[in-house]
Amino acid sequence: MTADLLTPLELRETELPNRLMVSPMCQYSVEDRDGVATPWHLVHLGSRAVGGAGLVMAEATAVEPRGRITPEDLGIWSDEHAAALQETTAFVRSQGAVPGIQLAHAGRKASKSRPWEGSAPLSPDEGGWEVVGPTDRPWPHDDEPPATDRLSVDEIEGIVDSFRAAAERARDAGFLVAEVHAAHGYLLHEFLSPVTNDRTDEYGGSFENRARIVREVTRAVRSVWPDDRPVFVRLSGTDWLPDRESWTVEQSARLADALADDGADLIDVSSGGIVPESAPDWVGPNFQLSLAEHVRQNSSGVAVGTVGGITTAQQADAIVRNDRADLAIVGREFLRNPYFGLHAARELGAGDRNEPPAQYQRAFQ
Ligand code: FNR
Repeated sequence: MTADLLTPLELRETELPNRLMVSPMCQYSVEDRDGVATPWHLVHLGSRAVGGAGLVMAEATAVEPRGRITPEDLGIWSDEHAAALQETTAFVRSQGAVPGIQLAHAGRKASKSRPWEGSAPLSPDEGGWEVVGPTDRPWPHDDEPPATDRLSVDEIEGIVDSFRAAAERARDAGFLVAEVHAAHGYLLHEFLSPVTNDRTDEYGGSFENRARIVREVTRAVRSVWPDDRPVFVRLSGTDWLPDRESWTVEQSARLADALADDGADLIDVSSGGIVPESAPDWVGPNFQLSLAEHVRQNSSGVAVGTVGGITTAQQADAIVRNDRADLAIVGREFLRNPYFGLHAARELGAGDRNEPPAQYQRAFQ
């Protein structure tokens, strides 16, 4: 039988009740600049679980303090951070949804002010810090670019360990899906892309070398993540820089196979972000779907999610029904409408699938 948006998706022994995921979205809402979750995170993620998403992915959550984009980002570098997220995972699960967490390191794009404060580099006086990357070339910023420290091989091993420790804490906090953030020009993507990786050691140069850290991180996360829970990896499917040596969709498909061997269960295909001009010419409905399809068709069987410009129930449903991707991932529409999943079920005539919680039933009769 053809699967539709509301057909459960089983990955390992974890069942997503439907194929609709809330995309990870930074909320920049930590109050004391200490990485600890606040009521905002519980209410934000909890509302989307109430609203019928099958998988609610928490925002890019830093595996070490240097890995935050802004001082207000979530972190998971101590047990206190994990404890503060437990109420959220319990609530999301109580609504029948699956809680996920995106484990992240912002690399040379770290130490900025929040988007609504200009995303400007922060000096140490303003609460900023020295940023790290595969290179010492800084992110090209109009203002004074932040000093960037090229990671040594020992330091790279330390970062892999931070991802492993973060996954252990996320596991104990009750998350059922861990997503490794290797997209959007942040640390792991900076290693993948020849645009930012100018190393001559075993972490630079060939495809295998550029992919080494992402594979090590994926294996480290998988080594502590329970066998019955899936691991996702978010990739930028392409750098959108066809005229120079850059990360391409062909390399993404090749990497998807390698990551599947390392224990990844789903590749979440986004794009861009490696330098300011690394962006698509056009952003609209399904603007990244062809990248996900390419990865799905040119890799050997790993599940694939698509994100970007999905705003209607019919659109998300058609992606699944036409077998173009395994998971429809929705970002901004879920910010506009936390109950997108409930509305989608109603519009699609889902019957008794994806029913609203009892408290809201009179509104959905
Ligand atoms: C994002 N995005 C994003 N991506 C990611 O991988 N980790 C993150 O933490 C964030 N943070 C974030 C915050 C906000 C406010 C927005 C709007 C976006 C990108 C997001 O997950 C998604 O890939 C894009 O928004 C494209 O999908 P939509 O919005 O077209 O459905």
